Amino acid sequence: MNDFPLSFVTCVNSIGNALFIDPETESVVIKPKQGFGGIGGDYIKPTALANVRQFYLRLKGIDVVACGGVKSGVDAFEHILCGATAIQVGTQLMKEGTKCFERISKELSNLMENKGYKFLSDFRGKLKSLDC
Ligand SMILES: Cc1cc2nc3c(=O)[nH]c(=O)nc-3n(C[C@H](O)[C@H](O)[C@H](O)COP(=O)(O)O)c2cc1C
Repeated sequence: MNDFPLSFVTCVNSIGNALFIDPETESVVIKPKQGFGGIGGDYIKPTALANVRQFYLRLKGIDVVACGGVKSGVDAFEHILCGATAIQVGTQLMKEGTKCFERISKELSNLMENKGYKFLSDFRGKLKSLDC
């Protein structure tokens, strides 16, 4: 039970406004909207992590589904450290196909084992701060 009429938030979606250009053809790469659109993948991971962290800290008791720049177990680990309960994959799924899920899960499991973590709850939200 929490103070808000929702049980989870997902953040972030793609971030705009972006424009990809092919210098060879001197053309935009994406079709609709004259090439303008949202961007995902590596470029947005720091912004995604910041949003996951802020929502986790501010919306106590509400699950945060993290999305943005996840292509490895380390990326998933970072989002969970920020407080994520679940992870969404967009760009990497498009590039690699559904096998990315097993690979990312395995990488996360290996990382957890190396660090001596058994459960996600051992480190979820426990991002350390450098503030005094
Ligand atoms: C091929 C593709 C299609 C997408 N379609 C949608 C969509 O229909 N609706 C939506 O809200 N987000 C859509 N997204 C955004 C993703 O859900 C995700 O929020 C965003 O790509 C950031 O995650 P990523 O860094 O893992 O790509 C799409 C992303 C990709 C790569």
